[in-house]
Amino acid sequence: MLSQKIENALNKQIKIEAESSQVYLAMACWAENQGFEGVASFMYEHSDEERMHMLKLVKFVNERGGHAKVSALSAPPASFGSFKEMFQTLFNHEVMVSQKINDLVHITLKERDYATHNFLQWYVSEQIEEESLARNILDKINLIGDDKGGLYMFDNDVKILTETNPPV
Ligand code: FEO
Repeated sequence: MLSQKIENALNKQIKIEAESSQVYLAMACWAENQGFEGVASFMYEHSDEERMHMLKLVKFVNERGGHAKVSALSAPPASFGSFKEMFQTLFNHEVMVSQKINDLVHITLKERDYATHNFLQWYVSEQIEEESLARNILDKINLIGDDKGGLYMFDNDVKILTETNPPV
């Protein structure tokens, strides 16, 4: 059984994962409108993954006797400046999510809720991968800058990356 404190904290994280899904969906739309199919499919996939992160939390809360909440979400921006800025935003977003997961883990230890602590280890590992993927892409885009040919090749690379190794 979840304590009210843990249930509230998990519900906050459910909202964060749902908003992450919205942010990446907005990024997918922005990239697709500019004809960057690879980046768009990467972002669509990433948006789906965030929904999966959210659902995993929803099911855990309900299975443990809590009530998962479906909250109103804040709207993400519709445009992201440049690809470099967009991937910087993505990286910053993932760093923020990692911090929220760390805070959650800390609360479970304080509350001595070892079942939730154990459940959250999946998210801890996941955030290491998410940050590392975002950092790798950011490094690449920083090398390319605004070079059109470079961006075209980058788009193809991201497309291959998405097809062979979907973001988790
Ligand atoms: Fe669910 Fe990208 O954090």
